[in-house]
Amino acid sequence: MPLLLFVFTVFTLHAAAPANSATTDTISAAQPLVGGDKLVSGNGRYALGFFETGSDSNWYMGIWFNTVPKLTPAWVANRDDPIKNITSLELTISGDGNLVILNRSSSSIICSSQARVTTTDTIAVLLNTGNLVLQNSSSNPSDVFWQSFDYPTDTFLPGAKLGYDKITGLNRRLVSWKNLINPATGAYHEELDPSGLNQFLLTPLNSSTPYWYSGVWNGQYFALMPEMSNGYFMNFTFVDNDQEKYFMYTLHDETKVIRNYVDVSGQAKTNMWLESSQNWVPMFAQPKAQCDVYAVCGPSTICDDNALPSCNCMKGFTVRSPKDWELDDRTSGCLRNTPLDCSNGSTSSTDRFYPMPCVRLPQNDDHSKPAAASSGECAQICLGNCSCTAYSFVKGECSVWHGELLDWRQHQCSDSSSTNGETLYLRLAAKEFPSQQASRRGKTNVILIISATVASLGLLAALVLLIIIWRNRTKLSGGTLKIAKGVNGIIAFRYADLQRATKSFSEKLGGGSFGSVFKGSLGDSATIAVKRLDHANQGEKQFRAEVSSIGIIHHINLVRLIGFCCEGSRRLLVYEHMPNRSLDLHLFQSNATMPWHARYQIALGVARGLAYLHDSCQDCIIHCDIKPENILLDASFAPRIADFGMAKLLGRDFSRVLTTVRGTAGYLAPEWISGVAVTTKIDVYSYGMVLLEIISGRRNSWAPCSCGGDHGVYFPVNVAQKLLEGSDVWSLVDHMLHGDVNLDEAATACKVACWCIQDDEFDRPTMGEVVRILEGLAEISVPPMPRLLQAMSGRGSSHSTCS
Ligand SMILES: *[C@@H]1O[C@H](CO)[C@@H](O)[C@H](O)[C@H]1NC(C)=O
Ligand SMILES: *[C@@H]1O[C@H](CO)[C@@H](O)[C@H](O)[C@H]1NC(C)=O
Ligand SMILES: *[C@@H]1O[C@H](CO)[C@@H](O)[C@H](O)[C@H]1NC(C)=O
Ligand SMILES: *[C@@H]1O[C@H](CO)[C@@H](O)[C@H](O)[C@H]1NC(C)=O
Ligand SMILES: *[C@@H]1O[C@H](CO)[C@@H](O)[C@H](O)[C@H]1NC(C)=O
Ligand SMILES: *[C@@H]1O[C@H](CO)[C@@H](O)[C@H](O)[C@H]1NC(C)=O
Ligand SMILES: *[C@@H]1O[C@H](CO)[C@@H](O)[C@H](O)[C@H]1NC(C)=O
Repeated sequence: MPLLLFVFTVFTLHAAAPANSATTDTISAAQPLVGGDKLVSGNGRYALGFFETGSDSNWYMGIWFNTVPKLTPAWVANRDDPIKNITSLELTISGDGNLVILNRSSSSIICSSQARVTTTDTIAVLLNTGNLVLQNSSSNPSDVFWQSFDYPTDTFLPGAKLGYDKITGLNRRLVSWKNLINPATGAYHEELDPSGLNQFLLTPLNSSTPYWYSGVWNGQYFALMPEMSNGYFMNFTFVDNDQEKYFMYTLHDETKVIRNYVDVSGQAKTNMWLESSQNWVPMFAQPKAQCDVYAVCGPSTICDDNALPSCNCMKGFTVRSPKDWELDDRTSGCLRNTPLDCSNGSTSSTDRFYPMPCVRLPQNDDHSKPAAASSGECAQICLGNCSCTAYSFVKGECSVWHGELLDWRQHQCSDSSSTNGETLYLRLAAKEFPSQQASRRGKTNVILIISATVASLGLLAALVLLIIIWRNRTKLSGGTLKIAKGVNGIIAFRYADLQRATKSFSEKLGGGSFGSVFKGSLGDSATIAVKRLDHANQGEKQFRAEVSSIGIIHHINLVRLIGFCCEGSRRLLVYEHMPNRSLDLHLFQSNATMPWHARYQIALGVARGLAYLHDSCQDCIIHCDIKPENILLDASFAPRIADFGMAKLLGRDFSRVLTTVRGTAGYLAPEWISGVAVTTKIDVYSYGMVLLEIISGRRNSWAPCSCGGDHGVYFPVNVAQKLLEGSDVWSLVDHMLHGDVNLDEAATACKVACWCIQDDEFDRPTMGEVVRILEGLAEISVPPMPRLLQAMSGRGSSHSTCS
C-alpha cells in the first residue's frame, strides 16, 4: 500500500499551463512556441511543449499523447539536461535555420537541433504521427533536415523506424528512463542486433550481454515473440536494403492509442490506453517475467516473479536508496546491515550462514568451486576468505561467491517440485541471528528464562481471559477465531488474530496480482489461506457489503470464503486451504503426469463453477482472471476456482491490478484489450485457453512440439487445424500420458476449447453449454478457425473457412 500511494501522489507530470488557447502544429521564426504554449498535431493525437516532472521543478521539452489525460511523454528533447526555469524560454527557428530552445532574456541558445540545414527559411511541424520535423518552409514535406523520430527516447511510435541508417550510421534505439519521473538516460536499451542478425536485443546500457532476444524476423514476426503480432490492429514491417535496416509498425485502427516503450525496469512493453479504465493497460511485455531482466533488483536482492513487488532485499540487507526504489529504479540494490567479521583473519570469523531455499543460480556469473567434502567444509572455506559472501553445496559440489550477489531469483518451492532451485547459504554477521545468541548465554540463564516464560504465559492467559470477558460483554459480532460469525456465516477477523493464525505471515503459499497468500491455522487444526490484498482501497462499508455478497456464494467448485479482515487500510480475505495448491503446478511443473481422467474432471469442475458464477447466483459474477494459477485443487484433486470475487471487490482498480501481473495476454480475450464492455464471454475465452493447456500439459506456446512436424505453430491454432482436417487428436494430447487417453473425451475437449476461443464473443458457447457438452448431454460441431490467433501464427489461410 505505501508504495502505491507514493507512486500515485508523486508520480505526476505536468505540462506547462497554456498561455493562450490558439493551437497550431507549426513553428517558424515569426511564430515561436513560448514557455507555456503547446503545439498540437493536425489530428490532435500528439502535443509538444514544456512539461515538468516530480517536485524538483525539472522542466523538459517533449512530445506527449495529447488524447491521454494522464501526461505520458513519448519523446523528450533534453532528457539528460533538465531546465530549472522556463519563464523566458521559447522554441523557435534560429538564424541558421535550426530548431532551438532560446532564452529571450539573455538571447542565449539552450539547445539546438544542430542539423546541417541548407536554407535559413525553415519551419518545424508536429506531424500527425507525432514526429517533429524541421523542413524547408516552401518545399514539400519530404525535404527534412532533422526529425525527432531519428532521436527516440524510450518510446517507439507507430510510423517511426527503429534501426540503422546504413549511409549516415545513425542508430535509432530506445533507452529506458532513469526512473518513473526522471527521463534521464536509464539502465536498459533496445536496439537492432549489432552483430547483423535481423533481431532486436534488450541489453543493460553498460554491458554487452543481452538478457533478451526477439528472435530473427521471419517475414511476419520475430521468431521468439509471436505474440507481438497478436496485435489485433498492428501491422509490422521489417526493411533491410542498401540504405537502411529498420523495424516499423503502423496501426490499422487509428483510434487506438498504443504505447511501445522500454520500461524503467528493463522490459519492453506494449500498453494500450483504455478509456473505460482511464489507464494504460499492458498488452505484451518482453521478457515476460520481470526477473528475466538482468540484475533488475540490483545487488544483494532476490527477485521473485510471484511476488508484488518482485524485488526484495536478502535477509540482513536494507534498501540502499528507498527514494529510487519507490520510483522503480532498483539498480542500486540493498546494503548490508551489519558488516561481516573479518577482523581476526581466516579462522575465527564469527559470521554465520542463513539458508535461502529454492533460489536460482544467476545465469552468467563467475564463482569459484573449491573442493569440499561437505556443506560444513564449504562453509569453512567461505568463512576463511573475507570477500566471500555466500556458498552453496549441491550434489557434492561446493560453490562460493565473492563480493556483491547479483541476479538471484526465487523459485516457488512446492512439494511437487522441490528440485526447483537450490539452497544458497548467505553469509551474515552473527548479530543478524538474534534468537541463537540468547540461547548461547549458558545454563545460568535458564532459570531466568523459564521464570520469565512462566510470567509472560501467565500474563498472556490473563489477557486472553480479559479479552474473552470483554468480548462476551460487548457481544461482538465477529472476531474470535471460531465462535463469532457475522452475517451469512462469514467471520470478521481482527488483524491481530490473523497475524497470530499465520505466525506473522511467515509461511507464504504464493502471491499474485492481488497480493500475497499465507498459510495459517485456526485453533482447531483447520488450515486456512489468508490473502492480504495489496490494492484494495475501498471504504470499509463497501468492502464488507461485497464480502458478504461473495460469502453467500457456495459451490463445490468455488473456493469458500471463511472470513475477512478490514481494519484501517488493511484488507484480508480468509479462505479454506487447498492442500494440492494450484493447477499450474501439476500441469507444468510436476514430475508426476496427471492422468487423463483427472484432467477431464477438472475441466468439467471448472466449467461448472464458472457456469454457477455466470448464471446461477443473484447477480452474475465475471471472474476476469481465469488461468491455471487461479484453479486450486482440494485433497481429492477436485478443482476450486479462486479469486472469483476479485473483480467486484476491487472495482475500478481491478483492471490495473489484473494487468500489473506479468504482461502475458495469453488468457485475455480480444474484446478485453480492445476496450469494449466485457461480458461473461471473456471468462469463456480464458477457459478455452486453460482447457487447451489441460489437454496438452503445456503452456499454450510456440515452443517446438516434439510430437510431430508442427514446429512453431501456436498450439491453439494447431488444435483448430487438426479438427478442421478431421485428423486424430491424439497428437495434441500431452504425450506424457503415453496414449492413456479417452480419445472421444479428448476430441470433445478440443472442440469445446476451440469454440471458446473464437474471436467474436457471440460465437463462443456459454459456460452452461460447455458443461452440458462435456457431460455428454449435448452435441458439438467442428469449430471454425479462430481467425485472430491464426493471423498471429502466420500460416496460410487455407483453413480459414469451415463448417
Ligand atoms: C523564473 O525566473 C523568473 C525571472 O526570470 C522569476 O520571476 C521566477 O520567479 C522564476 N521562477 C522560479 C520558479 O524560480
Ligand atoms: C535566461 O536568462 C536569464 C537572464 O540572463 C537568466 O537569469 C536565466 O537563468 C536564464 N534561464 C535559463 C533557463 O537559462
Ligand atoms: C526550398 O524550397 C524552395 C521552393 O521549393 C526552393 O526554391 C529552395 O531551393 C529550397 N531550398 C533548399 C535549400 O532546398
Ligand atoms: C555500470 O555497472 C556498474 C556495475 O556493474 C555500475 O557501478 C555503474 O554505475 C554502471 N554504469 C552505468 C552508467 O549505469
Ligand atoms: C502494412 O504495412 C505495409 C507497409 O507500410 C503496407 O504495405 C501494408 O498495406 C499494410 N497492411 C495493412 C493491412 O495495413
Ligand atoms: C579478535 O581478536 C582480538 C584480539 O586478538 C580479540 O580481542 C577479539 O575478541 C577477537 N574478535 C573476535 C570477534 O573474535
Ligand atoms: C579470497 O577470494 C578472492 C576471490 O576468489 C581471491 O582473489 C583472494 O585471493 C582470496 N583471499 C584469500 C586470503 O584467500
